[in-house]
Amino acid sequence: MIFDGKKIVLAISGGIAAYKSCELLRELRRKGANVRVMMTPGAREFVAPLTFAALSEHPVLTDAFALSENAEIEHIKWARWAEVIVVCPATANTIARIAHGFADEPVSVTIRAARVPIVICPAMNSAMWEDRLVQRNVTLLREAGYRIVEPEQGPLATSSEGEGWGRLARLEWVLSALLAALQGEQPLKGKKILITAGRTEEYFDPVRMLTNPSSGKMGFALSEAAVALGAEKVVLVHGPTNLPAPYKVQRVPVVSAADMYKAAMAHYEGTDILVMSAAVSDYRPASVSSEKIKKLPGKLTLELESTEDILYALGQRKTKAIHVGFAVETFDEIENARSKLRRKNLDFIVVNNPRDTGAGFGTDTNQVAILDAKGNIEKLPLLSKLEVALQILKRIL
Ligand code: CTP
Repeated sequence: MIFDGKKIVLAISGGIAAYKSCELLRELRRKGANVRVMMTPGAREFVAPLTFAALSEHPVLTDAFALSENAEIEHIKWARWAEVIVVCPATANTIARIAHGFADEPVSVTIRAARVPIVICPAMNSAMWEDRLVQRNVTLLREAGYRIVEPEQGPLATSSEGEGWGRLARLEWVLSALLAALQGEQPLKGKKILITAGRTEEYFDPVRMLTNPSSGKMGFALSEAAVALGAEKVVLVHGPTNLPAPYKVQRVPVVSAADMYKAAMAHYEGTDILVMSAAVSDYRPASVSSEKIKKLPGKLTLELESTEDILYALGQRKTKAIHVGFAVETFDEIENARSKLRRKNLDFIVVNNPRDTGAGFGTDTNQVAILDAKGNIEKLPLLSKLEVALQILKRIL
């Protein structure tokens, strides 16, 4: 699990979004983390500490002057225990207190005593978020090395306010920011990564097409992993999918192989690492009917033509970039993958057999082998797609 054994302090301040921290806590625990919760006095007006104590299976820190059974000062103990502290939600008041060095309630005093990454997730109404002093405090925090998960635009808590900036960032983005904070070194710092993901769709009339079951999960996980490892720019060219937008990733949605070819070519300039995980259709209908094809008695034959081989074409353009291909093989996996690695001028190829348990299309897990141009093979165990993605990028580096 992605947060296995990680020690996370969840700091909650007093805003309406405090109820969302219950879900964040549950998700972190589901993903293997050990979580301890501390709350400002304001937070306790919104959700009772008992809720977080039950969900974290640990007492909640609500008193800056609390002593443990061994007469140790609790907040110092917690600051040393944590690998990361996440303030979620962070109100204007708590942001101000942290930014200006206050240390008189559990959250600010623990943060003062900590030497670990701090992730701040602001949530407030849009007038407060746009307030110049609040913005100045956020800038102060950012400059001091705190990681800010920007709030989103959307419906705000009270219906009279309608839509605006200030809504707590979606849970997936908070989790991504935490994953990044826990990576320690940032080996992709300053790098541009181009990733392709998902299936393509090749229409032969306005309502019908040829495609495959690829969900895009592997490529989306790769983009999240690239952000977590500190990449400066991550461009994700992807086919049709329902997956939510990953944190800090530039998405380029496309439909057909031809669209994907154009988008990949257009975004290739300056790429340091290309990861082509898309399941690109090898064929498309040779002609497209402008009207729906009507049913007639007897057989219907579709004539197909080849699509562009995007990875091969980029391999011809390659100068400094590292190219990583994917291969889905149902037989002779290693041999087939090796020949693709050579033919497409790749540095690495990641191969999987969709018939292996947990490795098929649309699953949340994958079991892959990574082959390099020197002939090395490394087989990874069955892991979540995000863990596979992190392993692949770390191996490349
Ligand atoms: N690929 C591509 N453009 C295509 C087809 C595939 O860029 N038109 C890329 C895939 O994204 C993948 C790699 O090439 O990274 C291998 O894809 P795969 O479908 O396994 O290989 P093919 O060359 O299509 O060979 P085959 O279908 O015969 O196995």
